[in-house]
Amino acid sequence: MYERSIELFNQAVADEMSAVHQYMYFHFHCGDQGYDLLSGLFLRTAIEEMNHVELCAERILFLKGEVEMVASKAVQKILDVEKMLELAGQMEQGSIRDYNIWANECSANADSASRKVFEALVADEERHFDQYDTEMENIRKFGEQYLALQSIERSKNLGAGAGAAI
Ligand SMILES: [Fe+2]
Ligand SMILES: [Fe+2]
Repeated sequence: MYERSIELFNQAVADEMSAVHQYMYFHFHCGDQGYDLLSGLFLRTAIEEMNHVELCAERILFLKGEVEMVASKAVQKILDVEKMLELAGQMEQGSIRDYNIWANECSANADSASRKVFEALVADEERHFDQYDTEMENIRKFGEQYLALQSIERSKNLGAGAGAAI
């Protein structure tokens, strides 16, 4: 009876794992380029996606299924910050669409607890999309200056840290 729900949650696990990998990759590279604000946003979001893996896995085990820990996609090696945000936004929109459809499917299969899990995920993914969208707007509005400001902030903080250590 719950076979379809288990299948859907395993698809969700695979997508969430891909998001963890992709956002961690962006986290490393934003840090490397000196964009601490974006680096932190990607890290925090990756951690939330990891929590989503856990929520899905718990539901799979509750339904007596097995968790397939396989990422659905390979990491895209994007280094341009605007393109990173573009992909991240697309990934969140994809999840929002899928989880809405899957919530309805669980509901149609008389599995309302699974529906609620997917609905909770939708709310988080909408928030993630909004955060990425805001950053994208900032970059489009302020351009290179917005990114340069993040690098300057880091230099200031490093300078202050060095001063405090003396
Ligand atoms: Fe997620
Ligand atoms: Fe997300």
